[in-house]
Amino acid sequence: MWDALWTGIEAATMDLATMDNAALAVHDGRIAWLGPESRLPGPPASLARAVHAGGGRLATPGLIDCHTHLLFGGDRAAEFARRAEGMSYAAITAAGGGIRSTVAATRSLDEAQLVAAALPRARALMAEGVTTVEVKSGYALDVEGELRLLRAARALGRELDVEVVPTLLALHALPPEHAGDRAGWVRRVVHELVPAAAAGRLAISVDVFCEGIAFSVDECAQVLEAARAYGLATRVHADQLTAMGAAGLAARLGALSADHVEYTTDADIAAMAAAGTVAVLLPASYVVTGETRRPPVAAMRAAGVPMAVATDCNPGTAPCTSPGVVMALARAHFGLTALEVLAGMTVHAARALGLAATHGRLAVGMRADFCLWDLPSVDHFGYWLSPVHPAVVVRAGRVRA
Ligand code: NIG
Ligand code: FE
Repeated sequence: MWDALWTGIEAATMDLATMDNAALAVHDGRIAWLGPESRLPGPPASLARAVHAGGGRLATPGLIDCHTHLLFGGDRAAEFARRAEGMSYAAITAAGGGIRSTVAATRSLDEAQLVAAALPRARALMAEGVTTVEVKSGYALDVEGELRLLRAARALGRELDVEVVPTLLALHALPPEHAGDRAGWVRRVVHELVPAAAAGRLAISVDVFCEGIAFSVDECAQVLEAARAYGLATRVHADQLTAMGAAGLAARLGALSADHVEYTTDADIAAMAAAGTVAVLLPASYVVTGETRRPPVAAMRAAGVPMAVATDCNPGTAPCTSPGVVMALARAHFGLTALEVLAGMTVHAARALGLAATHGRLAVGMRADFCLWDLPSVDHFGYWLSPVHPAVVVRAGRVRA
């Protein structure tokens, strides 16, 4: 007997065309059966301990936000005033603001305070159907502080009914203590931080910010190679502000994803397609930084590069906790279809986290993470520039209270 059976749903499985009048059974936190309700092997009440009527609602995999910086102290409201006066994100960073101003505020918080600061942001994501969220470190920029952020990410997942996937954002900005000594910081990351994160099983993957205002391709390559040597997956903040060949680096090193990718070239798109690297599109930071160069969506689509969509929630370029808004921005600014934004926050997001075998699709054997929506059809994802709220969220087989 199954733990639960959901009948009368319209299932957007992310594998096949939407399935009408479907039923979905859950057992031991996984999807045990999925198909047309008419093919159920018996009367519903005889098959499961609990039977829920879906009421014809649209069912999708639980949303996956595969790129966030939820853990940070303070805010950057004053920086936004500078931007209104015409100063760019890059110029503010070059003048010592940007990421480094968040570092001071983040370093002053202990683990419990970091979790407390992130809770409302995580809850906002969950309210829109997020069942898995990636959380990066990157705002402490010293070995102990970065490990504290990763422990806080784990703690956040214990506190809330959401699966947290922690990422060590090892190269984000140069720590003030290492001003004038870039190589020294890269060495510490390679020889201390990455090994400590791996030994403590504190991160699934290692990320780097490969950019003119951040770290070079060569510096990033050293850290990503170290991550691989320790058995960690890799990701790259790539080609956000300039064409650096960063997405090409991601492809060459077998990274799970290249994120941002506004300036990615045709050659690097081909490399990503060949390597199976996911392009993670982050429309909130595109809009907030006033970027005008769109990611090459048509070329990536033509090349078969899987495209994920994420909030990039952070205090500097994407003060946003709304998957609904981000899906709408991805449609309005990047020309994605409704099905593409939904795939971007389910099946392709799972792949960007290395979770493609268990998350992001509705299929037998997959984790029973799904949402029921009061939306007329899949075409309504990314239609309203507003938060979207599922009627029901099921995570690991259990209805979220
Ligand atoms: O994804 N690009 C680097 N990291 C963040 C911004 C971080 C910040 O400005 O605080 C991003 O856009
Ligand atoms: Fe980011």
